[in-house]
Amino acid sequence: MCAPEATNLSMHKQLPFCTLKKQSLNMEILSKIATNDKHGENSPYFDGWKAYERNPFHLTKNPQGVIQMGLAENQLCFDLIEEWIRNNPKASICTPEGVHQFRDIANFQDYHGLQDFRNGMANFMSKVRGGRVRFDPDRILMSGGATGANELIMFCLADPGDAFMVPTPYYPAFVRDLCWRTGVQLIPVHCDSSNNFKITLPALEEAYQKAKEEKINVKGLIITNPSNPLGTTLDKDTLKSLVSFTNQKNIHLVCDEIYAATVFNTPSYVSVSEVIQEMENCRKELIHVICSLSKDMGFPGFRVGIVYSFNDTVVNCGRKMSSFGLVSSQTQHMLASMLLDENFVTKFLEESSRRLAERHDKFVKGLEEVNITRFPSNAGLFCWMNLKGLLEEQSFESELKLWRVIIHEVKINVSPGSSFNCSEPGWFRVCFANMDDETVDVALKRIRAFVGKEGTKKPLGFKRWRPNLRLSFSSSKFDHETVLSPHSPIPTSPLVRAT
Ligand SMILES: Cc1ncc(COP(=O)(O)O)c(C=O)c1O
Repeated sequence: MCAPEATNLSMHKQLPFCTLKKQSLNMEILSKIATNDKHGENSPYFDGWKAYERNPFHLTKNPQGVIQMGLAENQLCFDLIEEWIRNNPKASICTPEGVHQFRDIANFQDYHGLQDFRNGMANFMSKVRGGRVRFDPDRILMSGGATGANELIMFCLADPGDAFMVPTPYYPAFVRDLCWRTGVQLIPVHCDSSNNFKITLPALEEAYQKAKEEKINVKGLIITNPSNPLGTTLDKDTLKSLVSFTNQKNIHLVCDEIYAATVFNTPSYVSVSEVIQEMENCRKELIHVICSLSKDMGFPGFRVGIVYSFNDTVVNCGRKMSSFGLVSSQTQHMLASMLLDENFVTKFLEESSRRLAERHDKFVKGLEEVNITRFPSNAGLFCWMNLKGLLEEQSFESELKLWRVIIHEVKINVSPGSSFNCSEPGWFRVCFANMDDETVDVALKRIRAFVGKEGTKKPLGFKRWRPNLRLSFSSSKFDHETVLSPHSPIPTSPLVRAT
């Protein structure tokens, strides 16, 4: 029961005959994974990225281009990292100061990972969680980003056809990461704004019982804390109730904590790893934490993902699986020095959260000026913006219509709530940490111009929008080979940002 994709309409009806023919031939000669559509990338979430790639905004070179606000990247502290790199030439094997270690590092391929790297990661994870919990470096498993880590944990915990529950709204690429290759299904646990998107026990119980009635084998619950897309953190009581619920049902609790270091305001962060220390008789073997440096440090390109499991068998099996997605030894080597530099990490984390708060405040103030509200948040690299008032009617069709206008006319790529499987229309995720201040100003100016004349606070609604506006590359129609390049068999990756 993977989340239905908003634009996953009857694809076949809309594809040209030659493409259909090619597809059916491929289905004969290729695997089911290669030919199925279960990667979940047919979603406005990824379409928006393609719109940006076709016409990327640049302050001077392309000021009319699309501004990318659909990408949860943390680019606010690159200067601090660059300074550290300049001051620590020994950390790299590609400098005169560090080249003496080249042979050892280039040869290293042990899937346990460099001891120093694991020590550094354990220290970092502890620091991010306020030093209130310690992590055992021997339980740290490497993978290619949290993407790989999430898939790895699914491979360890579930068989094809088994299911994981996930509270809505949730990260759109979970469909790809958790389901596509593993054959695992997702069961949405519906949460809504009537109670601040809280994950309640009745909602969990309902989803669980419904799955049972349908004879689906539920193996666990996966949550993101801090939440993507809400930008909120879970409190201790909620975390305890989730641990108790999953313990009672004898199912796993996977906590994707990849935004842990993006908390920029109170309440401060509480990790499940901290909570279970306080719970008597907790079955720790059912608890698994996912971390990465993609958001916390802003290194999505380094592909550092971590599974931290309290289950010995998962640690053993997951370690063997690490062979499929090792972090390169060169990256491990460099990061080991950086993460073990206590002073640097402490200062970096403080400054990063200060800059995130500043950016968040600047952006939401700009939204407030034109009466756009957002869900209150204290973490993450995005806002959950409420545009219900701009919908023609309260439906997901209207939401997509509005989204197309925002991309085409306002030229901002934001992500509609339906791509996060949100249960109510009108919410949009908008990222604010992947750009400089000047670009934020341009984005806010465009939003102001769209919502109402600058200076006035009156929303204009739909009146000025062109009817029947459609994205020419709408995912259901999207044919990579013919649209992007008639010659290349390689579609533009929605995962690679155009530079
Ligand atoms: C909740 C969540 N999990 C996992 C990922 C994947 O992260 P990574 O770049 O480390 O693969 C993302 C990326 O946006 C995310 O938001």
